[in-house]
Amino acid sequence: MSVDPDVMRYFPSFVSQEDTRALVQRFDGVFDEHGFGPWALEHDGEFVGFTGLLVHTFPAHFTPAVEVGWRLRREAWGRGFATEAAREALRIGFEEHDLDEIVSMTVPANVRSVAVMERLGMTRDRADDFDHPRVEEGSPLRRHVLYRLSRSQWAGS
Ligand SMILES: CC(C)(COP(=O)(O)OP(=O)(O)OC[C@H]1O[C@@H](n2cnc3c(N)ncnc32)[C@H](O)[C@@H]1OP(=O)(O)O)[C@@H](O)C(=O)NCCC(=O)NCCS
Repeated sequence: MSVDPDVMRYFPSFVSQEDTRALVQRFDGVFDEHGFGPWALEHDGEFVGFTGLLVHTFPAHFTPAVEVGWRLRREAWGRGFATEAAREALRIGFEEHDLDEIVSMTVPANVRSVAVMERLGMTRDRADDFDHPRVEEGSPLRRHVLYRLSRSQWAGS
């Protein structure tokens, strides 16, 4: 399956089949350990991407943290799938797993991802912007914005 370059524009590199297998193993590990994870999204019986919850422990001022994240095939953009699926992921995180807070992060240029965060009612404090330690120094993709949503904000939404 070919990958539209738009899908990986804001990631440091494309992923090989081997990397993808490792990623799926990592995702399985999140489900095993926490009972949640990044769920596969299907539309009309076709796999169109994933949306769900990931646990981050890399060194940063807000970790350890649970992130809601998404990655969809290019043909699945513009149909509300990411936002709809992310709302369900937030519900599961807050209501079934009693999480106090869920975050989301991306590079500032990824306006589609930021728009999903804002549609979900997540908010950004510029003081939370950070350099992602897993992206090499000097890369234009190192600076990240952080959005947060607390359980009380979710309950009041
Ligand atoms: C980030 C990403 C998931 C966002 O996808 P998206 O399609 O923009 O977001 P949604 O699925 O929430 O769809 C929202 C759009 O669908 C439209 N839409 C169409 N029908 C809709 C419906 N029935 N309900 C809701 N929205 C609908 C909305 O109006 C909105 O359109 P707009 O972007 O023109 O304003 C996608 O761009 C992606 O996979 N990017 C590559 C991976 C990536 O960067 N991931 C994030 C890394 S941090």
